[in-house]
Amino acid sequence: MTKEEAKKEISDLVEKIDHYNYQYYQNDKSEVSDFEFDKLLSHLIALEEQFPELKAEDSPTQRVGGTVTKNFETVAHKYPMLSLGNTYSIDDLKDFDKRVAKGLEGDNYQYFCELKFDGVALSLTYKNGKLFRGITRGDGTRGDDITNNVKTIRTIPLSLKGDNIPEEFEARGEAFLSKEMFDRLNKERASLGEELYANARNTASGSLKMQDSALVAKRKLDCYLYSMIGDVPGISTHSQSIKKLEELGFNVSQTYKKCDTIDEVINYIQHWEEKRHELPLETDGIVIKVDNLEQQSILGFTAKSPRWAIAYKYKAENASTILRSITYQVGRTGAITPVAELEPVLLAGTTVKRASLHNANEIERLDVRKGDTVFVEKGGEIIPKVTSVDFSKRSSKSIPHEYIKNCPECGTELIRLEGEAQHYCTNIDGCPPQIKGRVEHFIQRKAMNIDSLGERTIDLLYQQDLVKSPADLYYLQYEDIFSLEGFKDLSTRNLLEGIKASTSIPFENVLFALGIRFVGRTVAEKLASHFKTIESLSEANLDELIAVPEIGERIAQSVLQYFANDKNLLEINRLKEAGIQFEIEKKEDTSISDVLNGQSFVVSGVFENFSRDEIKETIKNHGGKVISAISVKLDFLLAGDKMGPAKLEKAEKLNVKIIDEMEFMKMINH
Ligand code: IVH
Repeated sequence: MTKEEAKKEISDLVEKIDHYNYQYYQNDKSEVSDFEFDKLLSHLIALEEQFPELKAEDSPTQRVGGTVTKNFETVAHKYPMLSLGNTYSIDDLKDFDKRVAKGLEGDNYQYFCELKFDGVALSLTYKNGKLFRGITRGDGTRGDDITNNVKTIRTIPLSLKGDNIPEEFEARGEAFLSKEMFDRLNKERASLGEELYANARNTASGSLKMQDSALVAKRKLDCYLYSMIGDVPGISTHSQSIKKLEELGFNVSQTYKKCDTIDEVINYIQHWEEKRHELPLETDGIVIKVDNLEQQSILGFTAKSPRWAIAYKYKAENASTILRSITYQVGRTGAITPVAELEPVLLAGTTVKRASLHNANEIERLDVRKGDTVFVEKGGEIIPKVTSVDFSKRSSKSIPHEYIKNCPECGTELIRLEGEAQHYCTNIDGCPPQIKGRVEHFIQRKAMNIDSLGERTIDLLYQQDLVKSPADLYYLQYEDIFSLEGFKDLSTRNLLEGIKASTSIPFENVLFALGIRFVGRTVAEKLASHFKTIESLSEANLDELIAVPEIGERIAQSVLQYFANDKNLLEINRLKEAGIQFEIEKKEDTSISDVLNGQSFVVSGVFENFSRDEIKETIKNHGGKVISAISVKLDFLLAGDKMGPAKLEKAEKLNVKIIDEMEFMKMINH
């Protein structure tokens, strides 16, 4: 391909990808399949690699990240990033309105109300229609240049749309992690036995400070814009600048409202008090701004905040109830978490019966005791927390809570490592929740994905002494499972098939499934792609581990500890013998289409145009899945000559569609 041809092709691809991105992220419309989209993007990445000089700064390939910034540069804000005056009371708000009226000396004025988004303030500079720089708020006068990380936020345009694009301006807004993404992330952490992230805001802030922008891209942050600063022709009100931001392609939350009077503002506050919980992100109040920009400048600023705006904050919802008892949970890693068992109470629309007490320090800090009346609160956090004790209601007979000294499950004496808040049970091989927890972690979707196995069955297998470690799963016999309560022929076969199918799960999943402390899904991917095999990972020393991007000393030490334990090596050997993948699959992208997406095939017999391996490869190259056993979940039995009658009979019995080579060829040449 000549440079000229590449230039044309790149520009076509960029236009298409930008269009699909915009439709998807701003208009909720997917005009192409994920497969098609990824294909366009990979094609563009390949062309940009071949012709680096043609790679535009605003290329959509920037979204996938890949740059590593060791230290973010601190830069001065052209316009300082101020904060807002806060109030929790309607009376204060009415006083604010009086001050505005006085300051404007009887002029007519309007307010523009927005929600106060609980995220991380960003300032984005655009020059000649292109994103030039993204900076954090910092101390308000200087912030960190996190442009490469900002570029991974898909709703932030890299280049602007529409006519009359201002030459230079700043768009300000709030980057955030949606409640959905936050929940997902915490589920992954819970399965790792790691402490959960406290709230979405801090997590978003931490994500934006990550060194590897490819990891930031995975967090799927979003951003709502709420102000436009700079000399923008034709704009005299805040509402006009919001409209302009929308026209230019920014993501503006459609929750704003222009209000003529303070009473309308109060209605707006009341409207969103409950409804805000339905939004995709946390909000902690509303922001009220004088709409006219000239009036804003007449009102001016105090040292810290504008006189033309105020934030009304909703009170964190709280309730009081009685603490029935304190129980303890033992996690997969042996970590002990104390839990407050409460008299059920209604809080922010849900009934709360339990709240986390985190650790022994927290119990001591609160001086919380059985029988106390406690206050529970639900703020930005998902799990309610006990915030304080109502000492006036404490009985004179109450005695301080004594933290347990032994594991509630196995009786082993607990330890507490220096510098750690959590107590641990060290009986790794004998403590039931730790053993079952490791198997539950192993089988989860992001790990070995054995979905025919659940918590209840793991419990049964454990009770019957059949499974004490993940590797035991691969040595289960038909009779072992069939004899379990609730299992029949089909469910037994399904479970065995599910376990067998997991032997083709790729190495990075396996590495995550092993449950090495601090090795989450992403870290497992990094380690697998760097070391390629379990052998070279197990032989790596501290320096070699730390040399991998995003692997710090804490993770490295944990990996070293894991491989220093003979029991773990034995477990790996047993898994190896069962056929589990312990090296990275060397595969090129051979995909041709996605016509067989989501369809599963069993291949049997001999074929005219393909060898058996070729036909299996062809299925995969068109997005299909090849499995080994016939079950009700199977979509097609691809039958060749000389296929055994038993298979045919089974497929017919289970109503599986049977196709021949010709029909298959029609499917892929559709
Ligand atoms: S306007 C002069 N609008 O709240 C300050 N801020 O305490 C102008 N925030 O740093 C800010 N939602 O991070 C504005 N709709 C909104 C907002 C908002 C959240 C944050 C922002 C700012 C802080 C001010």
